[in-house]
Amino acid sequence: MDFLLSKKLLLIVTGGVAAYKSPEIVRKLRSAGADVRVAMTSAAQEFVTELTFQAVSGQDVFTSLFVGETDSGMGHIELARWADAIIVAPASADFISQIATGQAKDLASTICLASTSPILLAPAMNQQMWKNLATQANIKKLKQRGFLFNGPSSGEQACGEVGLGRLAEPETFVAVVSDMFKTNHLSGSKILITAGPTQEPIDPVRYIGNRSSGLMGYCLASVAAEMSAIVTLVSGPTALPAPKGASLIAVNTARQMFKATLRELDSKQDIFIGAAAVADYTPVKTAMNKIKKIEETITLEMKKNPDILAAVSQHPNRPFTVGFAAETENLERNAMNKMKKKELNMIAANLVGLSDQGFGSSKNELFVFYKRSKSHIPRAEKLQVARSLLNLIAKNYKASKK
Ligand SMILES: Cc1cc2nc3c(=O)[nH]c(=O)nc-3n(C[C@H](O)[C@H](O)[C@H](O)COP(=O)(O)O)c2cc1C
Repeated sequence: MDFLLSKKLLLIVTGGVAAYKSPEIVRKLRSAGADVRVAMTSAAQEFVTELTFQAVSGQDVFTSLFVGETDSGMGHIELARWADAIIVAPASADFISQIATGQAKDLASTICLASTSPILLAPAMNQQMWKNLATQANIKKLKQRGFLFNGPSSGEQACGEVGLGRLAEPETFVAVVSDMFKTNHLSGSKILITAGPTQEPIDPVRYIGNRSSGLMGYCLASVAAEMSAIVTLVSGPTALPAPKGASLIAVNTARQMFKATLRELDSKQDIFIGAAAVADYTPVKTAMNKIKKIEETITLEMKKNPDILAAVSQHPNRPFTVGFAAETENLERNAMNKMKKKELNMIAANLVGLSDQGFGSSKNELFVFYKRSKSHIPRAEKLQVARSLLNLIAKNYKASKK
C-alpha cells in the first residue's frame, strides 16, 4: 500500500517543451493510487492538448479562471481546497516568477495563491534561463516560503544545449510526492498493530475463521509509517500486500498472534493497536486427518483463546493500548465496558453486520472513546478513517506522557 493511495493531487502544467512528459507523470501518480486532476496554463496548451490530460486523468481538465461552473463544479477556490498537494510540472521560468511575486493572473497562478496545501515545483527550462539571477532569486524566495522542488536535472536539452534545466524524470515523482505526505507526528514512536482474521484449525483442510479482510489494520500500519513511526504489523491471513514501511509478521491462529504480539512487547513498544478480529474460541482438538462425511451430526468442542488485548494492557511493558470493538448492537455501552474491563487507553468501535461498512468493506465509520471524552470519525474510505484515528491516537498518546 502506498502513501499516495486516495490522495488528491492537482497537477499544474505550464508552458514548457517538457510538458510532453507530464501525461506520464499523471499515469504514474494514478497507478500509485492517487486521484489526479490537471490544470493547464494557456501556454501549456500550445505544447500538449487538454484532451490528452483528460484521457490520462479520466477527469475534466481545468484551463480557465472565467468559465463559471465546470461539469465537476470546481472553481479555482474549490480546486485549491480540494488538492491535498499541488505539483507544477513542468514549472516554466515565467510561472516560477509569477508565483514568487504572488500573482493571480490566470487559473494556475490563482490556485497556487489560494492554496494552503504543499506545492511541489519541477522546473524545466533552458540552462541559461535557469542560471539567470532573476530565476535563481525567485527560487530562493520560494524555498524560503516552503515550496518544495523536484529537479531540475542535468543533461541534454530540447534546445540542443547541455546543462541544468531538464525536467526531473517522471519516474521520480511517486517517491518525491509520497515524501510530501510524510509527517513527524509519530516520529520515532514504536507502534505494534494486529490485523486481519485468525484461522482456528479443525482438521488439516478446514478452519474456523471470520469475515475480517485486514484492511483497517493494514491502513493503520501504512498511515503510521507515513507519520514516521517504527511499525510492526502482526497479521492473520489476508489477501493484502505488505504495507510500505512496516515490518510484517504473518500468523495463522489466535495463539500464534498472541505469542508474536507478546514477543514484540519484549522490545518495548510505545503504542499498541489491536485491530485484528481474533477468534474467541478454538477447537479443543485438531483432527490429524480430514474429517470424513459419515456422521449425520458432529459436535466440535471449543476452548477459550488467550485474550491478546488484556494481556498487552497488563504486561509489565504495557504500551499506550488501543482496542477495537466490532459490535452489532449497543455500540457505546459495549465499547465502554470493554475499555474499562481491559483497562485500555482508547477504544475504536464500529458497527459490523452492515453491508456497506466494517468487515469486508472498503469503508468504515468509527466511534472513538477515551478517558472522559469521545469522537466520531464519519463514514469514509478506511485509509481516510485510519488517518483520522491515528491523529487522535497521536494526540492522546502525547497527552498521556505529560
Ligand atoms: C518552443 C518553445 C519552448 C519553450 N520551452 C520553455 C521551457 O522549456 N521552459 C520555460 O520556462 N519556458 C519555455 N518557453 C517559454 C514559455 O512558453 C513562455 O515563457 C510562456 O509565457 C510560459 O507561460 P506559462 O508560464 O503561463 O505557462 C518556450 C517557448 C517556446 C515557444
